[in-house]
Amino acid sequence: MSRRLLLSLALWASCSPGHAGTAALSQPRVQCHASRYPVAVDCSWTPLRAPNSTRPTSFIATYRLGVATLQQSQPCLQSTPEATWCTIPHVHLFSTVPYVLNVTALHPSGASSSLLAFVAERIIKPDPPEGVRLRAAGQLLQVLWHPPVSWPFPDIFSLKYRVRYRRHGTSHFRQVGPIEATTFTFRAAKSYAKYCVQVSAQDLTDYGKPSDWSLPGQAEGTPQKSLKRD
Ligand SMILES: *[C@@H]1O[C@H](CO)[C@@H](O)[C@H](O)[C@H]1NC(C)=O
Ligand SMILES: *[C@@H]1O[C@H](CO)[C@@H](O)[C@H](O)[C@H]1NC(C)=O
Repeated sequence: MSRRLLLSLALWASCSPGHAGTAALSQPRVQCHASRYPVAVDCSWTPLRAPNSTRPTSFIATYRLGVATLQQSQPCLQSTPEATWCTIPHVHLFSTVPYVLNVTALHPSGASSSLLAFVAERIIKPDPPEGVRLRAAGQLLQVLWHPPVSWPFPDIFSLKYRVRYRRHGTSHFRQVGPIEATTFTFRAAKSYAKYCVQVSAQDLTDYGKPSDWSLPGQAEGTPQKSLKRD
């Protein structure tokens, strides 16, 4: 972390609101991630305690670049005021100052704000690779996959991949990578052995975190079930 960023975060911490006047209210717990870097940052939150009210809680979400309060706040885009997520469009790449998101919960007994400071590159986490499939050729097993469709510019912001596989009935995964190709071939113990194979994606330049593991690869020719992910 750069000195400047540390300083910024320290400043941010020292100007975040204290407990005064908000004791009765829970603050929204906010998190942000960039699975479609650099198009947008997506943030979501949950109020810690449901307010004692029949009316739904509404939220004001704003952000600014930098901790200086002189900076103009921009709305973080919400579909409705009750929505518990918002989108920051047009990510400012490699900013030397953090984004500061301010989510304010409004309910009859008052308002409570949460601030979250982050640098877009540090919260990159791609979605898992898709269409993982296995192609057998004798004892060689070829794994093929696609980058996540949510990753907008795989040709510019390249991804690298890790593959893990284990034979059915064994408990240990063997892991390989990172590799830049979208295919990997390994020698199967037996040509008819069944394998569980999963792939994870990460930004090529090591920003942020690797994706979760993909769905297990399907043998090619197997009809694709329309699996739903949460
Ligand atoms: C919460 O709601 C209940 C039922 O409407 C009410 O009796 C109670 O006084 C409320 N408590 C507070 C702290 O507002
Ligand atoms: C956060 O947003 C609320 C509502 O717009 C505003 O009242 C509050 O001053 C903001 N807090 C900071 C630290 O910018």
